[in-house]
Amino acid sequence: MIAASIADFRELARRRLPHFLFEYIDGGSYSETTLRRNVEDLRDIAPRQRVLRDVSALDLSTELFGQRLSLPVILGPVGLAGMNARRGECQAVRAAEAAGVPFTLSTVSACGLDEVAAAATKPFWFQLYMTRDRGFMRELLAEAREVGCNALVFTVDMPVPGSRYRDYHSGLAGAPGIKGAIRRTWQGAMKPGWAWDVGVMGRPHGLGNVMRKLEGRTGIEDFFAWMRNNFDSSIAWADLDFIRSEWRGPLIIKGLLDAEDSVEAANLGADGIIVSNHGGRQLDGVPSTARALPAIADAVGERLTVLADGGVRSGLDVVRLLALGAKGVLLGRPWVFALAAQGQKGVEHMLRLIEAEMRVAMTLTGVTSIADIDRSILVPEAGQPR
Ligand code: FNR
Repeated sequence: MIAASIADFRELARRRLPHFLFEYIDGGSYSETTLRRNVEDLRDIAPRQRVLRDVSALDLSTELFGQRLSLPVILGPVGLAGMNARRGECQAVRAAEAAGVPFTLSTVSACGLDEVAAAATKPFWFQLYMTRDRGFMRELLAEAREVGCNALVFTVDMPVPGSRYRDYHSGLAGAPGIKGAIRRTWQGAMKPGWAWDVGVMGRPHGLGNVMRKLEGRTGIEDFFAWMRNNFDSSIAWADLDFIRSEWRGPLIIKGLLDAEDSVEAANLGADGIIVSNHGGRQLDGVPSTARALPAIADAVGERLTVLADGGVRSGLDVVRLLALGAKGVLLGRPWVFALAAQGQKGVEHMLRLIEAEMRVAMTLTGVTSIADIDRSILVPEAGQPR
């Protein structure tokens, strides 16, 4: 199948990946209400069709934190993304470079900062979680500086990992020890294309940022146990001082859904924020990004750069989030599905689809540049999600 949409990439990924891995990416927390609303609330926003405005010359480029982007799109941080294709994050960073957009490497990536830096030819972004071990954070920040990362995304909506039922049912989290290992091995064996690509050709795996800390215990259960034990729920606004003392470049706080919190972030001098509910993977029932974004953009849009993610499944959705006040939009599942389906080429193809769909959306709403996209391109009554 040639993918015509992100839904097609999802289907291709479902066919190629072991069940537990697909479920890990696709799922959200509890009843997945927020996950669904991220997608549905965006889809319900009606663009305002305008005609006869000469939109023959479109410019989709933009500038974020002093960097020129060919599209206002960023590949967002996704943990273990590299397990979806051989040396996955290395393929993804190259795809992002080819498309002229930033790639964000997760703290909990499969490929380490050093390996991704060796695969990249340009700077990329790094995402940091708050961990109990401040020394570990310092080491990661020093390495991110050394390899030339040009923005830091500090994720604050994971003081504890959310509970995801699908991971229990799939055998990723619910069957500890040998039982779980057997289930996962069996599921992997059922997908020989993936097993060969990742399990055989992808080895020996260089160690991801966290795996290095595990000293040889590199099983997926060791990894999740490390996350449970090391994520720090004492995280507070004062910790930003610590980050600031270790990081001089652009600092972007990820995981805000509340206007008051966003004002706090602006007061403390963040360069940017990402309005996000972690793709519906943390507290189920919280508002969708589309619902939360307008009030936040109104509150702090003049003071810092507002980015957003969650539920984007087309270029039209990118335009919708821009119209609600975002200056740039991160993709999570879309690039991981494309990577799982077709590696670097898949991610490049997915970004071309996003660009083409953005062009149609801009053409038919009558805007020629990213800066012109605002709420006036949405139908007023239907413009506000439920
Ligand atoms: C994530 N996300 C995430 N965020 C982060 O800051 N660090 C991380 O390591 C991860 N890991 C992660 C794994 C998986 C499998 C998913 C799906 C998501 C959240 C991610 O950056 C982003 O906020 C959402 O994915 C956006 O929603 P969509 O685009 O997936 O709908």
